[in-house]
Amino acid sequence: MPRPLVATIDLAAMRHNLDVARRHAPTSKAWAVVKANAYGHGLDRGMRAFSSADGLALIEVEGAVRLRDAGWRKPILLLEGFFEPADLPVVDQYQLQVAVHCNEQIDMIERTSFRSPLHVHLKMNSGMNRLGFTPSVFRQAWERLRANRHVGSITLMTHFANADDAGNPGMPLDRQVQRFLDASEGLAGDRSLANSAATLIHPQLAADWIRPGIMLYGGTPGGGSSEAYGLRAVMTLTSEIIGVQCVRPGDSVGYGSRFVADREMTIGIVACGYADGYPRHAPNGTPVIVDGHRTVIAGRVSMDMISVDLTAIPSARVGSKVTLWGDGLPIDEVANAAGTIGYELMCALAPRVRVEDR
Ligand SMILES: Cc1ncc(COP(=O)(O)O)c(C=O)c1O
Repeated sequence: MPRPLVATIDLAAMRHNLDVARRHAPTSKAWAVVKANAYGHGLDRGMRAFSSADGLALIEVEGAVRLRDAGWRKPILLLEGFFEPADLPVVDQYQLQVAVHCNEQIDMIERTSFRSPLHVHLKMNSGMNRLGFTPSVFRQAWERLRANRHVGSITLMTHFANADDAGNPGMPLDRQVQRFLDASEGLAGDRSLANSAATLIHPQLAADWIRPGIMLYGGTPGGGSSEAYGLRAVMTLTSEIIGVQCVRPGDSVGYGSRFVADREMTIGIVACGYADGYPRHAPNGTPVIVDGHRTVIAGRVSMDMISVDLTAIPSARVGSKVTLWGDGLPIDEVANAAGTIGYELMCALAPRVRVEDR
């Protein structure tokens, strides 16, 4: 008998969420971001569900090769570009588009002979200070690439630090936008700026290409309400109660005795733990659904088990269905309670969890 823990992936919801992105940016083309194994949902599922996207964008070169081998014929973009010279023949053979964010990458391109035109996404560091050319040297990088006979097109690209929190004084969104506009003025090429947050909240930034990721999987960038944006949950993680304990006032539950009962209580043990990707730091009070009723975690998450309060759910017993996140319990709500973000929960789903299509 397999463990009762299953992640169910709703491909129709993925398609629906891509449509939501398109409705926010009706004149833009859309990269569906499928890095990190399609945010934990499976690269092959990403390819199937996002077949109407204009292209797929990811980080992993080997993932891009897998997509081509599986039959994806439309554009593929490597969001961090390539990492070493040996990647470039692969880029050429599989016709991958590449982000270029540093001079070392341009050096590598200049030392390579390509058979097909190389489509480059020149990345500007407009204020996030992660990857990219600063505005003062962006034009030089563009000119260097344009002078290379192998370069077929140059898309101008940047990434926002705070599209979900535009007024953040650390780097207000407007300042990043202005830097991008100033430094790219007059340069030929498509523009690509918007992640999910920018697509949903600032549709005026959609430009030529959008690059939604988290929203396609039913998560919201700032942890807000996915329902309010019309997004549907994609991954639902379910399990079952595999044990029940009746505890008395003063009894503690689990490692470190983090939860202590203040009355007679019923505690259910759920087959799911941190080795499955459930966050170990989820505190007492993190929501779960048992038998259709919302309740909470009581006690420290262990490797293979979680303990939950069943006191107010008399119908609950061994075999009762438990939803850890997904349908009826937004992943962002669980993430918030655990002090993290939905992205991390999706991506951390462990290989031992059975994954099924809905
Ligand atoms: C360059 C780039 N574009 C787009 C995305 C998609 O972002 P999100 O998942 O917030 O939509 C990411 C993700 O981090 C990224 O790094």
